Amino acid sequence: MMYLAHYGMSEAPFGLTPNTAFYVDLPIHQQAMAVLTVALAQGEGFIKVTGEVGTGKTLLCRKLLHEAPEHFALAYLPDPHLSPLELRWALALELGLKHSGNIDPQQLGQLLQRQLLLLAQQQKQVVLLIDEAQALPDETLETLRLLTNLETEQRKLLQVVLFGQPELNQRLALYQFRQLRQRISFSYDLSVLNRAQVACYVRARLQLAGVTTPIFSQPALWLLHFYSRGIPRLINILAHKALMLGFGKATQRLGYYQIVQAARDTDDVQAVVRWWPWSGVLGSAVLAALWYWLPGGWW
Ligand SMILES: Nc1ncnc2c1ncn2[C@@H]1O[C@H](COP(=O)(O)OP(=O)(O)OP(=O)(O)O)[C@@H](O)[C@H]1O
Ligand SMILES: [Mg+2]
Repeated sequence: MMYLAHYGMSEAPFGLTPNTAFYVDLPIHQQAMAVLTVALAQGEGFIKVTGEVGTGKTLLCRKLLHEAPEHFALAYLPDPHLSPLELRWALALELGLKHSGNIDPQQLGQLLQRQLLLLAQQQKQVVLLIDEAQALPDETLETLRLLTNLETEQRKLLQVVLFGQPELNQRLALYQFRQLRQRISFSYDLSVLNRAQVACYVRARLQLAGVTTPIFSQPALWLLHFYSRGIPRLINILAHKALMLGFGKATQRLGYYQIVQAARDTDDVQAVVRWWPWSGVLGSAVLAALWYWLPGGWW
């Protein structure tokens, strides 16, 4: 990227892909990982991690894939728009069953069960990670529940971790899902970052990109928090745009001005800037000041 040399960076610090090399050990993600580790160790059938769009669910999912100990056999479904049969097929493929086109659904079920038993005998703990779980069709959710019913005398043959947006909770709250809901004894809800955490996040990502000088001024960090509402993906978008602006102006220090500019051409930032008639630099600074002064959640 063009501004790397300008800031002395080895890599772009605010990329949008959930890259585990740029993982920052923030309290929310630390806690989520702790819950996951405990719940998996206890052999829970269903575990749920929810969070707003852009709060790091996919990143957590990938981190788990990278770091799970040897005795786990992990299967990963990034896109759960699957019918019950497709789900069984996807799981079978992930578990290393060879594809054979002409077996019927019942045989597939038996094959799956046998494979799960085999893995259990090899002391493998099989975990299915489902990203974007809010998009699972109703019947597929029910199929999942039935799959987690498979167990030996000692433990479950399959554990499932659902990663999803808050809509997942709304869906699970429906009467028809009460049986599944009751089986989720461990869950974690990712909150947004507070002001101190935003500063820490930005500093850590810059460090991972090889920068140790503080590029963003304190007011810039406050405004980053204000506009992004503490959502990591929005922080990345704004910080990246601000870095480009700084590059254009040949400066290595970024202040509130660059953040306001970045926020002005970004969708989905704190909505107030888009309809506020005086959304200029001064107006935004006043708004940000008001935001901290007024009790939380006033907007
Ligand atoms: N702890 C963290 N350390 C480093 N980067 C993070 C962290 N949390 C989130 N991010 C970054 O925030 C961005 C959004 O993360 P991610 O794609 O995982 O969100 P998501 O919750 O899966 O969003 P969506 O609901 O849209 O799928 C990514 O660029 C990711 O790298
Ligand atoms: Mg995601």
